Amino acid sequence: MEAYVLIKHLHMTAAYLTAGLFLLRVSLDALGKTGWRLTPLRWLPHINDSLLLVAALLLLALSGWMPGVHAWLTFKLVLLVGYILAGWVALRQGLAKPWRLLGALLALAQLAGIFFLAIHKPVF
Ligand code: HEM
Repeated sequence: MEAYVLIKHLHMTAAYLTAGLFLLRVSLDALGKTGWRLTPLRWLPHINDSLLLVAALLLLALSGWMPGVHAWLTFKLVLLVGYILAGWVALRQGLAKPWRLLGALLALAQLAGIFFLAIHKPVF
């Protein structure tokens, strides 16, 4: 049980870092400071996201939570795919600004949905 709490805290820390690092990169791009791609900020989010996912899989292995059974988790995974796609659009340098802005807004909205589902675990 102690391990579960520890891993859940790791998962939560990585989740808040994911949101922070995404906001930081989108904000820097919006300010025209695209040089972050030449700094550790380019790969740090990938390491964090991998940690987030490994911790999530460990939580599933240690608990009774199951996508397909618990609707909040199913919807969380759907939103996660949407967040990844929208986030990709938001950070894509070659794309026109309106598309990137739309991508950023959709990514943030879906991220908010993920947090809502994770915290409240609504039963549908
Ligand atoms: C961007 C992606 C994700 C974010 C931002 C996120 C966020 C969170 C947060 C904030 C919590 C803690 C909720 C609380 O306060 O009780 C949580 C818990 C949890 N998450 Fe995630 N999560 C993400 C991805 C995933 C994925 C991909 C899975 C599973 C495949 C997953 C499975 C879980 C489980 C099982 C819990 C523990 C539920 C509990 O015992 O209360 N998460 N998540």
